[in-house]
Amino acid sequence: MISKIWLNILWCSGFLLAVVVGSVLVSLYRNRYIYRFAKTVNGFPFYPVIGNLHKIGKTSPQWKTRRRHFVKSFSPSILKSFVEFFYTNSTALVDALRKPDRPDLYIAFQNYSIDGFCEAIMGRNYNTQKKSEYSIVEDLDRLQEICRKRCVFEVFNLSVVIWGFIHEGLKTLGYLKAVSEFVNVILKDKRRDFKQSPVIADTTLKIADTLLNGDMKLTDKEIEDEITLFLSAASDTTGTTMAFIVTLLGMYEEVQEKMYEEVMTYVGDKAIGPEDLHNLKYTERVILESMRILPPIPTVGRHAKQDIHCGSKVIPKGVDIYINIIKLHRNEKFWPDPLRFNPDRFLPEEVAKRPKYCYIPFSAGPRNCIGKTYAIMSMKTSLANIVRNLKITSKYKSLEELNFHSFVTMRTITQLDCHFTARKKE
Ligand code: HEM
Repeated sequence: MISKIWLNILWCSGFLLAVVVGSVLVSLYRNRYIYRFAKTVNGFPFYPVIGNLHKIGKTSPQWKTRRRHFVKSFSPSILKSFVEFFYTNSTALVDALRKPDRPDLYIAFQNYSIDGFCEAIMGRNYNTQKKSEYSIVEDLDRLQEICRKRCVFEVFNLSVVIWGFIHEGLKTLGYLKAVSEFVNVILKDKRRDFKQSPVIADTTLKIADTLLNGDMKLTDKEIEDEITLFLSAASDTTGTTMAFIVTLLGMYEEVQEKMYEEVMTYVGDKAIGPEDLHNLKYTERVILESMRILPPIPTVGRHAKQDIHCGSKVIPKGVDIYINIIKLHRNEKFWPDPLRFNPDRFLPEEVAKRPKYCYIPFSAGPRNCIGKTYAIMSMKTSLANIVRNLKITSKYKSLEELNFHSFVTMRTITQLDCHFTARKKE
């Protein structure tokens, strides 16, 4: 009961000062209520994004140990080595987008993200952008949709068992099986490659090598869960963010042209490499501003294991807390004229004027997004490649024309309106 009261307070009264958000995220490691929906789907043990990982909380030493291992796999030198894969896969993406029968934007960008992830981290490209053999993105999307629907029913306290048997139970099992099969295909290939050339040096260990080299002493099922988590965490969020960014670029032509000028000035027509990324400062501001106005994960949750003191207020031990990222990102106190898309809000001098925790698209604190820099590098590379090749247009004049729903990531209810035409005649 008390959780629900707090939930209402946080959602409705605008009690979302950045200082409170900061205190909550820095103090707490684990969420509760919101991720309960993800633990099982239709009563079947699930969730690919979380797998058995929901058991790993602050009290479990496992999460800390694993996180420490994984952090090494996101070192600057390892991330730099990924850019060539982001680039080659973004070229396939540009080809897909320029076709008149291009796939739905969310699907196209998620497939790009899956291919980049598999090539960079697992060592092989499964070409989900080109082949229809793998439908991993669609399967993950359908599972998320089932979770979303179930989440709504859970609020009305319908029994999980009844829901499980009368609603889409068999379909769920089919999607879960398909996801697990894909993950097992890539793991089998990776195991074979790893046997032939094991990677043990600390400085070059990618996540997959870290999982397989035995240091973490994981079971096969735990390895599968970790890969599934990374795969879906990397593709869903990055894919959704990129779909939002191109739509915003289609709506704001002057921003798109400024970004095009920057890419042509610093990169031109050559292949995009890691050395180019730090010059694409405006492109980075476009990405940051897009994630402010349309954060792909609009809410994160935590469970208060102790009292949290925020100025004169105390969030009592035992309550579940929802942090409404989208509301925080549109709070006029920090973002004047919040619905205006203005990348210059992220000029260094503007950033310095704001409190740190009023912008948290990757969450914050110890349980924040481990793939933050990876995501920015992947999006910078692919968006620069798109913008220099294709002109983007959209029919939307304002963000208010878009209607959203969400489970983990936020999506528009209907497909996004966005069109791509070649800048140069072929
Ligand atoms: C635009 C892209 C992305 C966004 C907006 C995003 C956002 C987030 C957020 C908000 C969380 C924390 C959830 C919470 O506080 O409860 C998170 C966690 C996580 N993200 Fe990301 N993410 C992105 C890309 C990625 C990528 C590319 C990877 C991997 C390569 C990744 C891997 C993870 C993992 C493993 C976690 C769980 C971390 C832990 O519990 O220790 N994410 N992400």
